[in-house]
Amino acid sequence: MEEREFRKLSKFIEAEVGIKMPPAKKILLESRLQKRIKIHNLRDFKEYCDFLFEQKDRQELVEMIDAITTNKTDFMREPAHFDYMVEKALPEVTRGKTRINLWSAACSTGQEPYNLAMFMEEFNGRSPRPVDYAIRATDISNSCLARGRDALYTLKDIEDVSLDFKRKYFLKSRDPKSDQVKIKSHIRSRVQFQPINLMKDDYGLRETFDIVFCRNVLIYFDKDNQRDVIARIISHMNSGAYLFLGHSESMAGMNSGLMGVASSIFRKR
Ligand SMILES: C[S@@+](CC[C@H](N)C(=O)[O-])C[C@H]1O[C@@H](n2cnc3c(N)ncnc32)[C@H](O)[C@@H]1O
Repeated sequence: MEEREFRKLSKFIEAEVGIKMPPAKKILLESRLQKRIKIHNLRDFKEYCDFLFEQKDRQELVEMIDAITTNKTDFMREPAHFDYMVEKALPEVTRGKTRINLWSAACSTGQEPYNLAMFMEEFNGRSPRPVDYAIRATDISNSCLARGRDALYTLKDIEDVSLDFKRKYFLKSRDPKSDQVKIKSHIRSRVQFQPINLMKDDYGLRETFDIVFCRNVLIYFDKDNQRDVIARIISHMNSGAYLFLGHSESMAGMNSGLMGVASSIFRKR
């Protein structure tokens, strides 16, 4: 990829998606976009940039964003967060309420929002005050959202899930040779998937949230974008709501107005 194309693409990606694209990421960008060039039978990155920017191919913009985002996720990722949610956060946010809203912002292929639903079921099963709940699952990547909606995973995907959870929340295929599992419908029905680009000013959300997971996406953004995204997320949180970031993410020096209550967990006053 020539310098000119790299500059064009990296500038566009940083502005549109927020993902930092310093020169050190040039090789990564090349390898992720090679497939797009092949699919369209183009010769090189110059032709690809012309195709993308001059013809303003909206569908290709979506595909490009899919190709460049890192979608790694897992069931039971950073499990201390789910323990904190059940033990500490839910008893607080459900007080005096009959219904709460949860949001998995940057939900990738659905493991995180489905996990939230499973832990809500666990909380409700033990609580003297079970509550109704809805989970919004959002991401910029349309292919991730489609996989989330399908709710189909492999036995390997759920190897870190306890036997108890496997029994309660996953359906095995009728075909004994298949390695696929599906999330049970009472969990699926709690989760609504929707595209949201965290970089945009207006998320188009009507509800406000009591629990927000925004994990392992801010690391890709620069400090200014991180600050703006956090401020927008906070504007969609009820007072007393909790925000969970990834373990390697921090709000140091951001003056967000949130209270740190545990490692990478914050609360709105
Ligand atoms: C590494 S995954 C994290 C998934 C999950 N939260 C977790 O911790 O397991 C990061 C996700 O952020 C999404 N993403 C990247 N930039 C985004 C943006 N500007 N708006 C919304 N989602 C974005 C990617 O598509 C990807 O699915």
